[in-house]
This record gives sequence, structure tokens and C-alpha cells, in this order.
Amino acid sequence: MASSSPIVYSSTLLLSLALIFIFAPEILPSQNPFFSPHDDHDDLALFNKALRSASSVHGRGHRRLRISRLATKNPTPKIAFLFLTNSNLTFAPLWDRFLRGHAHLYNIYVHSDPFSAVQIFPPPFESHLIPSKKTERASPSLIAAERRLLARAILDDPFNLYFALISQHCVPLHSFPFLYRSLLGENPLRAFTSQPRHRSFIEILSDDPNLPERYAARGDGVMLPEVPFEEFRVGSQFFVLAKRHALLVLADRKLWRKFRLKCLNLDSCYPEEHYFPTLLSMADPEGCSRFTLTNVNWTGSFDGHPYTYEAAEISAGLVRRLRRSNSSYPYFFARKFSPECLPPLMDIAEDVIFRD
Ligand SMILES: *[C@@H]1O[C@H](CO)[C@@H](O)[C@H](O)[C@H]1NC(C)=O
Ligand SMILES: *[C@@H]1O[C@H](CO)[C@@H](O)[C@H](O)[C@H]1NC(C)=O
Ligand SMILES: *[C@@H]1O[C@H](CO)[C@@H](O)[C@H](O)[C@H]1NC(C)=O
Repeated sequence: MASSSPIVYSSTLLLSLALIFIFAPEILPSQNPFFSPHDDHDDLALFNKALRSASSVHGRGHRRLRISRLATKNPTPKIAFLFLTNSNLTFAPLWDRFLRGHAHLYNIYVHSDPFSAVQIFPPPFESHLIPSKKTERASPSLIAAERRLLARAILDDPFNLYFALISQHCVPLHSFPFLYRSLLGENPLRAFTSQPRHRSFIEILSDDPNLPERYAARGDGVMLPEVPFEEFRVGSQFFVLAKRHALLVLADRKLWRKFRLKCLNLDSCYPEEHYFPTLLSMADPEGCSRFTLTNVNWTGSFDGHPYTYEAAEISAGLVRRLRRSNSSYPYFFARKFSPECLPPLMDIAEDVIFRD
């Protein structure tokens, strides 16, 4: 017994050291949130796994046989809905109605901050939670969460061809079949072979007056040489990415090394609004529409939050106004809506929102 106690002691010590290392980022209060090397390590392994699975589907080898057998059974392309949330999914009944009857054409993935008070995942979200980590404003944790969602969706189903990022404050503005036809065309089976030409729907802006301040948020010259100011872009956080661009996002190491750095100026720190537009604009500007499909109202915005619609404002007229866009596609989604908007939205769901 006595001889074993030093071993027990030292393994306990080792274990506690390991636990401190693992949980330290969560235990220590974060005044200036940033990204822990431990989280980064986990994510990297996940992204590599997703990239390998995608290349074995598209590439040579025995995996191809398995997939093509699967494909002959159920060859439909799918849209992956990536829900990023840190509060209850209030609009679940509306999303449920949006998706009902189309189970073979979509998948759902939910990233929910485990430190938030979200306890219940009602249909259609039940059992679609992915392993999630803490997310905070003004930190790269939102970029990481979005990449985690992309990676899980790619790993889970090789037929996911489009990836739509949605928040708990987003609602649909059109029917699912209308969205599906718009993204994948009238003959969805052809979407498998046309993948190299699929476009992503992501806002990419180069003339925003806040750009210089946002670029310098991590210190002067810190973004160089990977991200010169002329290449720095901004855009809405909410994107719909084609699979080829989702893979490109998972393969990125170069820009992430810069965007994961701590901001010195937290008032100008919105990493998720810059990372995706900058990366895609550098890698494949022609492959992106430069417009988001998610309407947001910045009129009278306060503290970086857009206008939030209230129940009394919900009407057929509002839905029609929100659909109008300057891109070749209408808006398919909109945000932000207060939880009280659910009943009036449900009232007009069949006759207005999903009537196309
Ligand atoms: C989420 O819903 C549960 C159950 O209805 C409730 O107890 C909890 O307070 C809600 N959380 C938030 C953040 O609203
Ligand atoms: C955008 O928000 C403003 C209030 O800040 C409101 O007056 C306007 O009607 C909203 N736009 C739309 C299209 O609803
Ligand atoms: C479309 O573009 C015009 C001109 O830039 C702008 O005034 C208008 O607000 C835009 N409309 C929408 C729905 O974005």
C-alpha cells in the first residue's frame, strides 16, 4: 500500500494539472475574451477530419464505393441549417412548419453556448446539438463556433451542399421549396456535378467607414502580412455557403492565426463580421454573390445591435418589405425579432410566409 501512494499521489497531481489545463479558460474570468490554445487544438482535429472525409468522398479509394452505393439509395442534395444560439430557440414552431414534409432535403445542426441558460431543444431542433463551446461577443469564439458547425455538417452528411447560418432571432421569409429551388435549381440531381460553380451568398463590403478602426482593433500592423488593409472586408455574419467554400473555410490556417488574436479595442471588435468576408473575398471573389440572404435593419441601431421587430409590427406588408433586396435573389431570412413575434408570425405563416 505504502509503496503505491507516491504513484497515486503523482498521478493525482498529474490529473489535477491536466484538469487545470483543460478547464482553466472556463474557470478564469475573462476580462478580455480570447481564444484558448486548447480549444484551438480540438477544433483543428475536427476540421482536419471533416476535410479528410470530404476529400475521400470526392476523391479516389474505397470510400467512393460506399458513398455511391448510398447515393443510389438517396441521392438528393441537402441544405444544412446551422443554428448558432446562446438563448432559447423561440421560433422553433415556425422553423418546424417551414421544414415539415421535407425531411430528406435538409439537416439541422445546433451550436448552443453550454454556459447559457438554454435547456430545451424543441422540435425540429431536438437531438441536433453538436459539441459546443462558450461563445462571447467581441471574441473570435463566434468564428470558431461557425467553423465547428460547418465541420460537423460536412462530416455528418456528404449530401449537404449548402450551409445556411441562422440565429435564434432569425425567421424564414419564404417557403422551404422556394429556397431549395433557388439554391439548387429545378433539377437538384444536377447540383452534384455543378458544385464547382456553386456560388456562396455572403455579404462582402469594402467601403465601410468603420473598416480602419476595425482593422486596427488588435494593434497597429498586427494583421500584416497575411491581411493587408486593402484586402480587409466586412459583411453580415449570416451567410449561405456553397460546400466548396465551406471546405475552404475549414482549410484556412493563415487568416485564423490573425483573427484569433485578442482585440485591444473591444469597441471595434467584431471578428465574425470580418473573417468570412475577408477570407472568401481573398480566395474566390467571383464565386461569391457579395449579398447576404438574411435581411437585417440597422436603422437606429444601438450598441452594435440591429433593430428588433415587435409583435405589433408583424404583418403581410412587413414580410413583403423584408423580402425586397438589391441582389438577384430576394431575402430568404430576416432578423431580429422579439420572442413575442412568434404568435403573429404563426398566424400569417401559411397564407403569407410559406405561400410560394
Ligand atoms: C429557456 O426556457 C426554459 C424553459 O422554458 C426557461 O426555464 C429558461 O429560463 C429559458 N432561458 C432563457 C435564457 O430564456
Ligand atoms: C427599420 O427600423 C426602423 C426603426 O429603427 C423602422 O422605422 C423601419 O420601418 C424599419 N424598416 C423596415 C423595412 O421595417
Ligand atoms: C438598394 O440600393 C439603393 C441604392 O444603393 C439603396 O438606396 C436601397 O436602400 C437599396 N435597397 C435595399 C432593399 O437594400
